[in-house]
Amino acid sequence: MSDISATAQSLLAEGKGILAADESTSTANKRFDDYDIEHTPENRRQYRQLLFTAPEIEQYLSGAILYEETARQVADEGTPLPEVLADRGIIPGIKVDRSLKPLPNFPGEHVSQGLDNLDERLDEYAEMGMRFSKWRSVIAIGDGLPTDECITANAHVLARYAGIVQSKHMVPIVEPEVLLDGDHSLEDSARVLERTLNTVFQQLAMYRVDLGGVILKTSMALPGSGSSEDVDHTQVAGTTMDVMEKCLPAELAGIVFLSGGQTPEDAIQHLQEIAVRGPYTWPVTFSYARALQEPVLKVWAGDPENMISAQDAFLEQVKKASAAQMGAYAANSAE
Ligand code: G3H
Repeated sequence: MSDISATAQSLLAEGKGILAADESTSTANKRFDDYDIEHTPENRRQYRQLLFTAPEIEQYLSGAILYEETARQVADEGTPLPEVLADRGIIPGIKVDRSLKPLPNFPGEHVSQGLDNLDERLDEYAEMGMRFSKWRSVIAIGDGLPTDECITANAHVLARYAGIVQSKHMVPIVEPEVLLDGDHSLEDSARVLERTLNTVFQQLAMYRVDLGGVILKTSMALPGSGSSEDVDHTQVAGTTMDVMEKCLPAELAGIVFLSGGQTPEDAIQHLQEIAVRGPYTWPVTFSYARALQEPVLKVWAGDPENMISAQDAFLEQVKKASAAQMGAYAANSAE
């Protein structure tokens, strides 16, 4: 097994998942706004430190994705934050895409930026201890959207990114997120997910990316946030995994799900139903940001006195997600 595949397998270890703590500065500030937390690098550092030093989380987290600012910050006693994670056996990784730009001539559609100098950035990130990376592209559903051109443009960038990352002996997490915004149905979402994943895997093959060293980070098939369609957790799990089974090659290292604006409880229950529907050709787990962090931010609210109880809330959330990954989560009775 190559080094890259071995890292991918470690990230996909049973009963564990990946914490996404890679919110850009503007997104992190947006999350802070809900609790009137001041937008300062120090508050963001304190918050990420709180997450990374929470007791026992290494039993439930295989990796954590950082934003560049966090990757360069240090804990109170001076240890770089990526090292704090690595010392606990949690593999540090980094988000390397650099924001979305409108796709000219395609109103409402975007393509992610950041390929220029990516190879040089990765050299530095590897020296900082990063062993994997993430690149997010977004696909919007709407009237006439997504276009094939937008899907292809993003799939192309994701495949180029994945090839560059593997050339640096790191694992690429490839994330084409189909957005929840809109009033589309579960079936619409599944169709768009299928078109997107088929195109992404065509491009990955075209650019000769080693799929044994790729982790797919994907949204679930879900009715849009503005839809009144009533679907249960089992339907979401079934529809989502039908798409995965139709589109994904057996060689792929594994699948991690994003939470994408679902409530934390829904994201965990969907993962539980996905696990129950298995087994699958690939390991399947979580890489949630909001679904793991919302309850933590609520307790912390920027007050150092709440740190311990916020860490308890974080541990509780990762325990639930870990139980769901193994099909062992029972709502209301989980510890
Ligand atoms: O790129 C998106 C994040 O890594 C996952 O965030 O779980 O809040 O959708 P989310």
